[in-house]
Amino acid sequence: MASDKKVRVCVVGMGIGRSNGRALSGNPRGEVVALCDLREDAMKDFAKELPGEQKLYTDYKEMCRDPEIDAVFVGTPNQWHVPVAREVVRNDKHVIVTKPLADSEDAARTLVEEADASGVVNMMSLGTRYGASCQHLGKLGRDGFFGDFYYARARSVRRNGIPDWSMGFISEGGGAFRDMGVHVLDAVWWMMGMPRPISAVGVAGAHFGQHGNGYWDGRQPAEEFYSKFAADDFGCGFIRFDNGIGLQIESFWASHQPGAFQIELFGTEAGAKLSPLTLYSMDDGAEADTEIKLPKQLEGFDLMAEEFIGAILDGTEFHAPLQHGLVVQQMMEAVLRSGETGVEERIDAAME
Ligand SMILES: NC(=O)c1ccc[n+]([C@@H]2O[C@H](COP(=O)([O-])OP(=O)(O)OC[C@H]3O[C@@H](n4cnc5c(N)ncnc54)[C@H](O)[C@@H]3O)[C@@H](O)[C@H]2O)c1
Repeated sequence: MASDKKVRVCVVGMGIGRSNGRALSGNPRGEVVALCDLREDAMKDFAKELPGEQKLYTDYKEMCRDPEIDAVFVGTPNQWHVPVAREVVRNDKHVIVTKPLADSEDAARTLVEEADASGVVNMMSLGTRYGASCQHLGKLGRDGFFGDFYYARARSVRRNGIPDWSMGFISEGGGAFRDMGVHVLDAVWWMMGMPRPISAVGVAGAHFGQHGNGYWDGRQPAEEFYSKFAADDFGCGFIRFDNGIGLQIESFWASHQPGAFQIELFGTEAGAKLSPLTLYSMDDGAEADTEIKLPKQLEGFDLMAEEFIGAILDGTEFHAPLQHGLVVQQMMEAVLRSGETGVEERIDAAME
């Protein structure tokens, strides 16, 4: 594709698709030419804020056959990520998929195999990893600032935060870990240099959702909704990596605890926490705590849009292939599985 061309994108899913769509459309070399959702009103509403004209599709298979679309953002509920993304890559279009990659390890693996074989640009959309603070810690880690990592803690804790706006969240394949645990798990794994996971132990289950408790902002959903709750509202575990690192991971959609969204890194030379972004080290025998204020920079959805579009038009490197989503899925599923089996689960990581 000539470098003066724009990437013509379709956005699927009018929830998180709006944030990704704004970034893709706001990129000087991107344009949103189509929207796809089951809800026509939601597409019309989003189209009002986008420049140019958008074709509206309610059938993703029909959309995938449109030769005037080069690339697709997939932002449906988890259970539809893989069916939609597989159709996209089978039609030789580039794809960017929101987290989690899939609703199961098998589905994630199938998609990655097909996407890699097709040769299209296939990337994860990861709001946390691409945030400025995570990018900063990741760079410090690669530059050796922390020495060797040997331990980390990552947690996403909500007090009353079960999503009540889509059945996808509370159905099988949804749940707190695949919704929120995935953010901190992906980010901490990436910051530590993506070590190879080998096993996990976990506990997981639901104590709130099926009783109509713990929903977003303390709202009370209809019994017809919450009686179908079939997911975890908490999932916690411990993951071992082949280089000896241990990771404690916690995700709660609801709990009797104050909310938290935190990553803590333990290195031989220094440590850090994500929020507020702080580095811990020794300075000539004294404990040194450094709170970092980052300058305004390209980050989050805008940074992902830039990488995705650059990879398509210029063949430049992108740092979050779907394969990363598969390894993260393997870690999540091992923690959740261990919660059921009660024993440590092995992970056969999809890594070179
Ligand atoms: N920060 C982030 O990266 C972030 C934030 C929120 C949600 N998400 C992810 O985005 C996904 C959706 O979450 P949400 O909060 O946007 O949900 P949502 O319910 O607000 O939006 C999902 C949209 O997908 C549409 N949809 C459902 N099935 C479809 C299909 N087969 N074809 C086309 N459209 C379909 C729905 O009509 C709905 O408009 C989830 O997987 C979630 O994990 C990511």
